[in-house]
Amino acid sequence: MQFKLSEEHEMIRKMVRDFARNEVAPTAAERDEEERFDREIFDKMAELGLTGIPWPEEYGGIGSDFLAYCIAVEELSRVDASTGVMLSAHTSLAGWPIYKFGNEEQKQKYLRPMAEGKKIGAYGLTEPGSGSDAGGMRTTARLEGDHYVLNGSKIFITNGGEAEIYVVFAVTDPTSKHKGTTAFIVESDFLGFSVGKKEKKLGIRSSPTTEIIFEDCKVPVANRLGEEGDGFKVAMMTLDGGRNGIAAQAVGIAQGALDAAVDYAKERHQFGKPIVANQGISFKLADMATNIEASRLLTYQAAWLESNGLPYGKESAMSKLFAGDTAMKVTTEAVQVFGGYGYTKDYPVERFMRDAKITQIYEGTQEIQRLVISRMLTK
Ligand code: CAA
Repeated sequence: MQFKLSEEHEMIRKMVRDFARNEVAPTAAERDEEERFDREIFDKMAELGLTGIPWPEEYGGIGSDFLAYCIAVEELSRVDASTGVMLSAHTSLAGWPIYKFGNEEQKQKYLRPMAEGKKIGAYGLTEPGSGSDAGGMRTTARLEGDHYVLNGSKIFITNGGEAEIYVVFAVTDPTSKHKGTTAFIVESDFLGFSVGKKEKKLGIRSSPTTEIIFEDCKVPVANRLGEEGDGFKVAMMTLDGGRNGIAAQAVGIAQGALDAAVDYAKERHQFGKPIVANQGISFKLADMATNIEASRLLTYQAAWLESNGLPYGKESAMSKLFAGDTAMKVTTEAVQVFGGYGYTKDYPVERFMRDAKITQIYEGTQEIQRLVISRMLTK
């Protein structure tokens, strides 16, 4: 057993940490306030190779692994969870299914420009009437000659409106629930594709979350991902890895909040001494740090399993469950350490607390993670 990161992983961590501090952190609060996505940040990430971390060089990536990718999401989220999820949705929700199920032509046409950072990716599964019950989707795809015609809508799309490439799921055979679903790659300029309502959110406010709409949207047969009927499996397997990206985001958010709380507890004096001199505060910090470390270990373990070709679905659900709850708990405690100041926008901890909440909801609620874990235990 080996708990030391490799030189390559340490190098990537340092590079992303410097980038996050210098290029992402300075505008994080302002972008949150203005609900503003900044494409320039994505472009700069592309220059550093961050938009294609786990993909081989032949597909435009840097040929690293899922652990390096998780470290990058963690370091970005440590200063700005919106930037963290931008990379996470791009890599593990859009890139992964194309890498895993795409043919050579699809990988060159779609994965390569995404990995090189020329295009942004997104993933469309959820619908107004189908959230946790992903198999209950209503969007349809009808085969007509060399095209499928898609009708319906998807909601809560991370990177929605900014992405050029969408991996989406639609019903091709309404008589069969799970085996009647098919995956497609849809370009944003396809006829009949449009972006609908942009959500106004509690947290991750500079990450755009939108509806996407298909009105007789013509998608070439060549853009079907996998075979007809494979869609539900593609969606679920994609989420297996995606959930660990969210765990990494949660670890980053929690660490960012702890860093701020430790600094503040040392500086803030009350009753003639720094507040950290009180066990009420220092024990809180100790609990926060311990839970973060446990979350990080679960997350890195799941990433290591995936990188080494071992089963990781259960571990990924566990990391998301534990790290998401930790992020919520730690950020709430961080606000408590700051007291009244923590409740204001003068400090970043209120933003971390708002951002943490979504990690308990998206890519499967915490209740769905428990369902996945318990089904695996009893299978
Ligand atoms: N890998 C491979 N196959 C899988 C699988 C997996 N992880 N999970 C299920 N399957 C297969 C099953 O083996 C089964 O196959 P057979 O029919 O051949 O036996 C089939 O899929 C159906 O499986 P279930 O009976 O388990 O399906 P279910 O309807 O009970 O649903 C569920 C299972 C886990 C609840 C699933 O619906 C689920 O994950 N729901 C949550 C959806 C979710 O996470 N949504 C988030 C969307 S992304 C997002 O948040 C937005 C964003 O941009 C960040």
